[in-house]
Amino acid sequence: MKRLAHFRMKTWLSCCLLAVAPALMCDAQGAKPASADGIPRLERRGEATQLIVDGKPFLILGGELHNSSSSSVAYMKSVWPRLTAMHMNTVLLPVAWETIEPEEGKFDFTVVDGLVEDARANNLKLVVLWFGAWKNTYSSYTPGWVKTNLTRFPRVQTSDGRDTERLSPFSAVVRDADARAFARLMHHLHDVDGERHTVLTVQVENEVGVIPQSRDHSEVANAAFAAEVPQALMSFLEKRRASLNPELRAAWEAAGGKMKGTWQEVFGKTPLTDDLFMAWQYATYIERVAAAGKAEYPLPMYANAALIRPNYEPGQYNSGGPLPHSMDVWRAGAPSLDFVSPDIYFNEFAYWASEYTRPDNPLFIPEAQGGVTGAANVLFAVGREKAVGFSAFGVDDQGNTPLDLVGITNPAEHIDSGALGAMYLTLSRLEPLVLKGQETVGLSAALLEGDAQRAARASVGEYIANVARVGAPAAAGGGRVGALFIQTGANEFLVVGSGDAMVTFSADTPGPPVVGIESVDEEFFENGAWVARRRLNGDENSQGQALRLHASDVGEGRIYRVRVYRYK
Ligand code: DGJ
Repeated sequence: MKRLAHFRMKTWLSCCLLAVAPALMCDAQGAKPASADGIPRLERRGEATQLIVDGKPFLILGGELHNSSSSSVAYMKSVWPRLTAMHMNTVLLPVAWETIEPEEGKFDFTVVDGLVEDARANNLKLVVLWFGAWKNTYSSYTPGWVKTNLTRFPRVQTSDGRDTERLSPFSAVVRDADARAFARLMHHLHDVDGERHTVLTVQVENEVGVIPQSRDHSEVANAAFAAEVPQALMSFLEKRRASLNPELRAAWEAAGGKMKGTWQEVFGKTPLTDDLFMAWQYATYIERVAAAGKAEYPLPMYANAALIRPNYEPGQYNSGGPLPHSMDVWRAGAPSLDFVSPDIYFNEFAYWASEYTRPDNPLFIPEAQGGVTGAANVLFAVGREKAVGFSAFGVDDQGNTPLDLVGITNPAEHIDSGALGAMYLTLSRLEPLVLKGQETVGLSAALLEGDAQRAARASVGEYIANVARVGAPAAAGGGRVGALFIQTGANEFLVVGSGDAMVTFSADTPGPPVVGIESVDEEFFENGAWVARRRLNGDENSQGQALRLHASDVGEGRIYRVRVYRYK
């Protein structure tokens, strides 16, 4: 906090010195600088928690780089223009511990500075991913002086006593070295960006957890596992009992709902208990790292999760990561994190997105599929779950080569890899309306996933929008249809679609039950405004009975303005 006080003093002084332009630099009392007010922060506004940047809500339309791209400023030179061509406003990029502290105590921020400068030159914001002690459970991004000294920096061990390539989250030495480096990074970011706000938020570590066993079996870990569950966690769970994640609550209650006892006594003798135990350890470790960083520069911070494939057990997936069943453990252990995030590569996007949307956890998706799949998913994220942002992974590729992520996704779905960029362009043109709408019930979205799902509904204002798939899934944008509804008047909506679908409306409030379509106009963005072109009727809107969305809408930048009315 010392550093914050220094920041305030410094900017207060510049306020006084720049008294010639008080309206620009200071608030009404002249006490606080505009730049201090503008530090990115989260704020509850109506129905949504939003990211506020320079005093205004900001919607992250982002893309994450491949893991190695941002290790070189020179390599990135040719990448930036491709990112802006995708119409994203924010780039998520790793900053590795090995890059900034190659020798212990000697910091080098040349790469960080180059990235921040070039992001600004390309009019892009950044989310910095701190690849500190862990990246995808491994410790591969740690500097050589950490990696090679197993005595000083101990590892997670297997049950037969072997070291793994994962630093131990039980080691205070590891934690403090990680926290020191992270604090230096945040200190530096404050110095170079505390007033410009190019960096919006920071991810602390990357997809933590242990594999292939469900917990660390080192001596210190075994001792902690045999000890009682920390009282701090028990009190948190007790206070939040009614709103706990159902799986966590069920495990606790099945074991007798005890307020005291070892991990297995409190949560049962199951692999899930190992996961919860590791979750507490990673969360409390990351708490110390995040808090050290926030003391230097309090940007919003989060941790991301690799999700679970169906029927996988802890250890087959990252045991201890911030997953839905352990989210309460993470909230208790890491209050300095503003939220935890899912990396959603799986096809059940709506399910995972909603699992991470809670009153105490705004949704931000740092990694997801791009292409036509992403174009539909982003509508659901920002419209239905009121996400602060969405980001596709591996965007250095998008726009030229199709993206296949570790065999999870269907490469065929990425044939139109420019679709997400086109959708970002449309969304950026609608951004003020989307952000305002997030505060109200006048914004929602529907998503159709998988071949079997033929219809979905979205409740928007006094109406329900019913979205039904048209044609075979393959013809409808890789089997996925997204539709975003923005209420612009009591009976008027803007509709953004991705995929082939038919939309009808029904009433969601008492009153005349039948909803008719008064008119449908297609609109395009021309010279800074949405301009109506054709009035769609007859064959184009099922004789006035429905709004027809087309897979080509995304690429052509078409949206629809629909007016409805009610009768008996
Ligand atoms: C998830 C990780 O968080 C990313 O850094 C990257 O490794 C992707 N998986 C896929 O390659």
